[in-house]
Amino acid sequence: MRWLWWFILLGIACGASWSVPEPGPDDARRAGVTEETLAQGRRLYVFRCGGCHRLYPPSYARRSEWQGIVQRMGKGLASEEVELIQTYLSTFALDAVK
Ligand code: HEC
Repeated sequence: MRWLWWFILLGIACGASWSVPEPGPDDARRAGVTEETLAQGRRLYVFRCGGCHRLYPPSYARRSEWQGIVQRMGKGLASEEVELIQTYLSTFALDAVK
């Protein structure tokens, strides 16, 4: 029955990244950017923002709130990085147009 525990652990580990959606072509279209831009934003979000705390799902905040949060949290980042992360989070934000 040991495999069952591994299965459950794997499920928990995967669940952590499921809350950070992978962008698809439809998401890129409604955001008005390329899919690559969104994918880059997601990568940066995971690498730059997951170090100190759990990754908050993009639906944690509204678009306008994310702008301020990323400004505040991304003080050490390049402005292009901040922008990519903001674009990604805004696309999946609580009040994003789906
Ligand atoms: C150097 C460590 C560190 C990094 C890197 C970091 N955070 Fe935070 N974050 C914190 C701490 C500490 C808090 C709790 C205190 C606070 O709210 O300021 C927090 C709180 C938060 C909150 C909840 C509070 C709120 O305002 O709603 C969000 C959302 C958040 N961070 C997003 C981000 C994002 C997005 C990034 C990447 C740009 C990021 N964090 C990178 C340390 C960090």
